[in-house]
Amino acid sequence: MPARTEAASPAGEVAERAAADTPPCHVAIIMDGNGRWAAAHGLPRVAGHRAGAQAVRRTVETAIRHGVSWITLYAFSSENWRRPAGEVLDLTGLLRHYLRNEVRELKGEGVRLRFIGDRDRFEPDIVADLAHAEADTAGNSRLNLTLALSYGGRAEIAAAARTAARAALQGRLDPETIDEASFSGLLSTAAMPDPDLIIRTSGEQRLSNFLLWQSAYAELLFLDVLWPDFGPAHFAEAMAEYARRERRFGARPA
Ligand code: FPP
Repeated sequence: MPARTEAASPAGEVAERAAADTPPCHVAIIMDGNGRWAAAHGLPRVAGHRAGAQAVRRTVETAIRHGVSWITLYAFSSENWRRPAGEVLDLTGLLRHYLRNEVRELKGEGVRLRFIGDRDRFEPDIVADLAHAEADTAGNSRLNLTLALSYGGRAEIAAAARTAARAALQGRLDPETIDEASFSGLLSTAAMPDPDLIIRTSGEQRLSNFLLWQSAYAELLFLDVLWPDFGPAHFAEAMAEYARRERRFGARPA
């Protein structure tokens, strides 16, 4: 199916108004389709990732306008390390560029940055930039932007299990007291609310190891748009679709 352009359509504006009253607190996005976008434009894959980074910027601004408080973006999965070395270099280079050039502006807009995932797999200068970006924006609360980097949901759950097992072995934790709330507190997302809405672009319909624990009751939305084309109209459409969903969290309607 053809990807839509990023321009806000009149329909998008109507949807933006309709959804304004009930924004989800936390929107998480699987940004997929950069490679296909590049191929469709006869460009190298890196051009798709660059256009994807611009879509990140647009999406942060749009989320703020919609009153969304938390946004989490799947920017680099733990499986992405298996891509060809040149593409990994392009992606880490883009991340470095993003951290060096955009954090000041994000800070000015009231955005607080967080990162989840195995950050130690990145080069030391990036690891330092990540820590600096978190510290530098820690006083902000207008929008909480989390980038999932070298992130995998199963690895995150296994790491939490190791933490709990270690504490139990050392006598600091009674295994009988482990429940869903306390286990959530051991995940990298401990300080974050669960996502209300997970969007995946590009037409693929799977979670690909993203926020597996946290997505238990998330609404899922799969959009037929390649990530670099994702714009304000698509975000508005997602907000309107979310507002139409009836969330029951497993309970029966009254
Ligand atoms: C999926 O497209 C996207 C990624 C693997 C990386 C996402 C990265 C960005 C949006 C740009 C960098 C972001 C920041 C924050 C600096 P794909 O390559 O799998 O596309 P395909 O499925 O069409 O091949």
